[in-house]
Amino acid sequence: MRSQFALIVFAAPFALFHGILAAPSCIPDTSTTFCDPSRPITGSQMRSIFNTFVDQFYFKRDFQGAMKKFVSSNLIQHNPQIANGSQAQVEVVTSILANYDGPEFELVIIDVERGYGVVFNRFRGKAGTGLPITGVADIYRFEGSCMVEHWDVIEGLPPNSTNPMPFRK
Ligand SMILES: *[C@@H]1O[C@H](CO)[C@@H](O)[C@H](O)[C@H]1NC(C)=O
Ligand SMILES: *[C@@H]1O[C@H](CO)[C@@H](O)[C@H](O)[C@H]1NC(C)=O
Repeated sequence: MRSQFALIVFAAPFALFHGILAAPSCIPDTSTTFCDPSRPITGSQMRSIFNTFVDQFYFKRDFQGAMKKFVSSNLIQHNPQIANGSQAQVEVVTSILANYDGPEFELVIIDVERGYGVVFNRFRGKAGTGLPITGVADIYRFEGSCMVEHWDVIEGLPPNSTNPMPFRK
């Protein structure tokens, strides 16, 4: 169900990337990265990049591949438990999300004028871990075609939640 949906939704962005790849402009290494902070992109390209990144990173869980393709290796990091640099984020996310299923819900907001992409996800602690359902908001700042800065806010569902529909639509 989900993969069928993803296929349709992301067919268009991939077509657009094909256009980016085919352009003979100064893209550093098109086989591994779209990142170039000095290369301006249009609003629709930013939407395509962010939607594709979210699909690859969160839903396909290709942390390494998605970060390499879309995020600066010199990522400025604001999560207090992760060092600067995209590799640090890959390592921490890989280890944390190994204990969670999902995401089972996402909300994506893209502000093309200011160059920010925001994704809100809901994860579920794997059976036996005792970890709660957890809401995560990730905020990425673009520079050119590249995401260069990251913030997040993470909240575990408290034992006595008064809200009957936490972290979802
Ligand atoms: C992370 O990068 C920012 C921006 O370059 C810098 O100000 C900060 O000191 C760096 N943090 C560490 C721990 O190196
Ligand atoms: C949750 O509710 C139970 C029963 O009312 C109470 O004993 C417990 O202290 C509460 N836990 C928290 C974290 O508020």
